[in-house]
Amino acid sequence: MKRLPLLLAALMALPAMAQKQSTVTLRPSEAKETINKEIYGQFAEHLGSCIYGGLWVGPDSDIPNTNGYRNDVLQALRDIKVPLMRWPGGCFADEYHWMDGIGPKENRPRMVNNNWGGTVEDNSFGTHEFLNLCELLDCEPYVSMNVGSGTVEETAKWVEYMTAESGPMAKLRKQNGREKPWKVKYIGVGNESWGCGGTMRPEYYGDLFRRYSTYCREYDGNKLYKVASGASDYDYDWTETMMKNVGTRMHGLSLHYYTCYTWDGSKGSATDFTADQYYWAVAKCGVGVQEVLDKQIAIMDKYDSKNKVGLLLDEWGTWWDTEPGTNPGHLFQQNAMRDAMVAAFSLNTFHQYTRRMKMTNIAQVANVLQSMVLTKDNKMVLTPTYYVFKMYVPNMEAVNIPLDIQSDTFSAENEREKSQPRTSPYISASASRSADGTININLANADLKQSNKLTINLAGIKGKIVASTILTSKDMKDHNTFDRPSTVIPVEFKGAKIDKQGNLIVDMPKMSIVTLQVK
Ligand code: AHR
Repeated sequence: MKRLPLLLAALMALPAMAQKQSTVTLRPSEAKETINKEIYGQFAEHLGSCIYGGLWVGPDSDIPNTNGYRNDVLQALRDIKVPLMRWPGGCFADEYHWMDGIGPKENRPRMVNNNWGGTVEDNSFGTHEFLNLCELLDCEPYVSMNVGSGTVEETAKWVEYMTAESGPMAKLRKQNGREKPWKVKYIGVGNESWGCGGTMRPEYYGDLFRRYSTYCREYDGNKLYKVASGASDYDYDWTETMMKNVGTRMHGLSLHYYTCYTWDGSKGSATDFTADQYYWAVAKCGVGVQEVLDKQIAIMDKYDSKNKVGLLLDEWGTWWDTEPGTNPGHLFQQNAMRDAMVAAFSLNTFHQYTRRMKMTNIAQVANVLQSMVLTKDNKMVLTPTYYVFKMYVPNMEAVNIPLDIQSDTFSAENEREKSQPRTSPYISASASRSADGTININLANADLKQSNKLTINLAGIKGKIVASTILTSKDMKDHNTFDRPSTVIPVEFKGAKIDKQGNLIVDMPKMSIVTLQVK
């Protein structure tokens, strides 16, 4: 008789062990900040096979293409409604001389891509090829100028070449086959000017920004948004100096933040890692980036209380070891379920910062770091990260709905980072309201072992679940390959319902990402 209660207690404890419970509470009355579509921006750099082979194969290629752009990649990028693309770098931008990339291809000079493996760049993909791609994709171009090794004159003429209706540079453009100017809004004035972009001090770079940006003129109604090279991660002094010395003369200030295990030595395999490394990555891109954004934004708020200067996270993503057998200078890495979790935690976080943060660009769009697509000859695979971007499309230009999350936490540390262990919730969430009233709910459960029953208090929002999708897999290391392209793919999700109290109840499997639309 005495044993029965014990046994019962043990049995009753089982479901609790198998499934955790969390709550998410929406605060729709406080929803006011729009999630700019540019938060979903991409980055295309002349690095490895990002441009050549990834986006561009040339019009004479056997690989199906439209004017030289691969058709499979074009379609994939259209499907995620790429809103903006940054080009030509990255570090490459500060060695790039744009005049080498215009005119007849046979006359274009070659150069050595010193930053990225010493590969010879033939300049066959230049200004026309990039801006025409943006037109094909209907996305905003973001062009980074060469401040590190270029001249003010080069910068001034490039802006004129791209955007002026008439004048000497427009005449040259017309001779090269393009009558009408392109619309180019975003101009980057240098990249990582503290490092590969010139190893400058912020005081000196601040003055250079003022000088170079003066000559980026607005032609024929083309409004420019001039972006200054910003800090890396925890460099608060750079931001402080730029805000003090440049302030609202810049429209945007960039920031780079990579989920990278270490900067010296092995960064760890993209597909072979431990649970500790997985949790560390999730914490680094969730609570880790929150801490950085809070501090960077506090500095910006101090100097710019009217919120005029945008913070642009124009490089972010995971950075692992290159795939064995590939050129280490080409940064070709695989993309696993862990990367998808990083993408979901990151995007949920970014939605909370859109008052100040107006753009982010994941690095990079193809074949480099945390890519959307991987290509090999005529084959292409969509990565788990790509699918997160696809699931999150409805959030572009929707209004962020602030929320509170109550969930169990985990603690993660990286012995090489020399930082305090980070404590992160297992659950990450964001919500938004589209123009037609649809509520978008984005959820991620990082837990590798346990599912989680989420009770989402919709705070009076009424509606039915009209769409729901899940991305999950058996193992955190699962990824898509050229031979097995469908190991990690999203499917319809059936584990959500609205209960009698009007709460959204979601049975989130372990290690899963779920998006829902309620209308
Ligand atoms: O994304 C790869 C490189 O990382 C970029 O070229 C550079 O800006 C950063 O250091």
